[in-house]
Amino acid sequence: MRSFEILPQEIRNNFFYACALIKENFPVPGRFRSALPSQIAELSGLLTNNKGERPLSYLTRPNFLSAYMHYFLPWNIYRLCILLQSINLSLSAGNSVTDLGSGPLTFASALWIARPDLRSVPLEINCIDRSAPALEAGNKFFNALRSSTDTGSTWKINLIRDDVDIRRISYKGNLSSLVCAVNFFNEIYGSLPHSNTEKLKHIADNAARLMVSMALKNGSVLTVEPGVPQSGRFVSLLRTAFMRTGMQPLSPCTHTSVCPFSGNKKRWCHFAYESFDTPNELQLLSAAADLPKERLVFSYLLTAAKKNNTQNKLRIISDAFKLPQNRFGRYGCCSAGLVLLAGERKRIEDIFCGSLVTMTSDFKGRDGKSGALIMEVT
Ligand SMILES: C[S@@+](CC[C@H](N)C(=O)[O-])C[C@H]1O[C@@H](n2cnc3c(N)ncnc32)[C@H](O)[C@@H]1O
Repeated sequence: MRSFEILPQEIRNNFFYACALIKENFPVPGRFRSALPSQIAELSGLLTNNKGERPLSYLTRPNFLSAYMHYFLPWNIYRLCILLQSINLSLSAGNSVTDLGSGPLTFASALWIARPDLRSVPLEINCIDRSAPALEAGNKFFNALRSSTDTGSTWKINLIRDDVDIRRISYKGNLSSLVCAVNFFNEIYGSLPHSNTEKLKHIADNAARLMVSMALKNGSVLTVEPGVPQSGRFVSLLRTAFMRTGMQPLSPCTHTSVCPFSGNKKRWCHFAYESFDTPNELQLLSAAADLPKERLVFSYLLTAAKKNNTQNKLRIISDAFKLPQNRFGRYGCCSAGLVLLAGERKRIEDIFCGSLVTMTSDFKGRDGKSGALIMEVT
């Protein structure tokens, strides 16, 4: 398993090419071009702050779908590419994937871009969404992507227009090797007051049971959420809910002990990356919408009914930051809880956020500020 480094050159090139394909396949007519940034800003407001005002079918509206295709789709693909080239999805010939709330096929496209090794592996991908226009736009984009980079692909894409009800946990369709939901559950819990932990727990329980019921016994389940505090908390609750069903957290968790973020009001599990390596045009459009993306943030959880084999490792979960006496630190997570890795600047900066570190030294007490166990990096 690779660490979450900046995208390798091949994947970066694929991503740049995908951005060019979006522009080519979804041209914005001249008279609407100047309105695109404000449409993006409006949709962003509806997706983040004003969730109560968001119509259920927002992606059936041409202006919002266009905003999604030109801004949210590429940024979500970029985030997924960072993740997908690092986690072990163990997909093989004949496997099927079910993606809940797939929108414009963001997950399928990101998998194609980030995992060129899978392109010639016959896979069936069920893309479920309530918005038919989003599925169709995604299919057009995916086909453009596939035909430009075809290596004899046998991926079968099924577009399924359906309303997913997370309370309907007795799924009757075919079971999949991978069930995923990307930026989906926040559409359900996003309008809850942040203090309503009980309701959030209830949604996490239903979400976990629904996804497990759609997966094969030896299958895995991947959830990716936006990385803001409430989604980090949801992912932590989801982890507990999955464990109640017998699934084990495989990534980012290296362990099955209590999540150090569970019930933590100040911290949440998320991964942040600089986004300097993206097309200039996407950066300019983002700036014009007043939504510049200097950093990409996400929370995620990969679970399966198999044993986690990283128990003796520590997952790096933060940027490097300055400590007193000219030293630097990063937070990590392991079975003993939250850990503060401390050492010389270069040693700490050379470790990537998201990477796994083998625990070699004993802990040197606890950090007074965060309560984290201190581990010296020498
Ligand atoms: C924020 S978008 C995410 C799309 C895609 N997964 C991505 O990451 O770019 C959420 C998607 O979920 C769909 N959606 C929301 N609630 C749904 C439901 N109950 N059933 C089916 N689709 C739903 C929306 O139509 C939208 O396409």
